[in-house]
Amino acid sequence: MNPTSKLSMTPIHIGVIMDGNGRWAQKRGLARTQGHIEGLKAGKRIAKAASDMGVPYVTFYVFSTENWKRAADEVGFIMGLARQYLRAEFAFSRENNIRVRYTGDLSGLPPDVAQDIIDTCVESADFTGTQVVLAINYGGRDEIVRSVRRALAEEHEISGETISAHLDNPDIPDPDLVIRTAGEKRMSNFLLWESAYAEFYFSEKLWPDWTADDLSAAIEDFRKRERRFGGINGIGNRGQVFR
Ligand code: IPE
Ligand code: IPE
Ligand code: MG
Repeated sequence: MNPTSKLSMTPIHIGVIMDGNGRWAQKRGLARTQGHIEGLKAGKRIAKAASDMGVPYVTFYVFSTENWKRAADEVGFIMGLARQYLRAEFAFSRENNIRVRYTGDLSGLPPDVAQDIIDTCVESADFTGTQVVLAINYGGRDEIVRSVRRALAEEHEISGETISAHLDNPDIPDPDLVIRTAGEKRMSNFLLWESAYAEFYFSEKLWPDWTADDLSAAIEDFRKRERRFGGINGIGNRGQVFR
């Protein structure tokens, strides 16, 4: 086996752009908000599947820095879901040994939602299984700005290494695989810095319809990829850029 295929065998970190909740609901003549309820169920399903498959890190794109542009009632509904479910799902985390973390700007969220996120992270900090990262009020550009500000505050020279080292979760490896559902083929400001050498998997299926089998299919597809990281035939390859 050459080093290239070995590198691409198992994704350590999967990023998921969970898209299509609104369309799922509209197709059924339901309010878009109903799609977010089903999307949350799919999120739990895929978190459980990733945990069962032993994937070490999964980042779910929950709410972007641009999603505030939506109608106030839809934004309010999503924040309400976070309020309602974050604490309530602690039993789910414990049963599956899932550690919850976050990335994003908590200062821009309703304070009680921000506190629920912090509490969930603290309460699950000792769980040793899959780490589920919630990207909430998250933008890739915003995270890079945060990182540069932190690095400057500590009087570091700005370099690729210092930017990587001051991201929201510098210990988490870059995503190997980024999945986007619902047919759109764009990043929409997700993990811009970290996805420099990620493999992308696009699925036509709407997020609320995703099951464990879809995750398996994405991982199978990833396993067939040849990652080169700018090198040739596996020579000089490395799974991390700047780290
Ligand atoms: C993704 O589904 C969830 C969030 C962005 C919060 P959408 O709400 O974007 O669903 P579509 O893309 O409109 O179908
Ligand atoms: C990306 O989906 C954000 C999340 C999944 C949270 P969007 O639906 O907001 O992306 P665009 O607007 O289609 O690019
Ligand atoms: Mg969308």
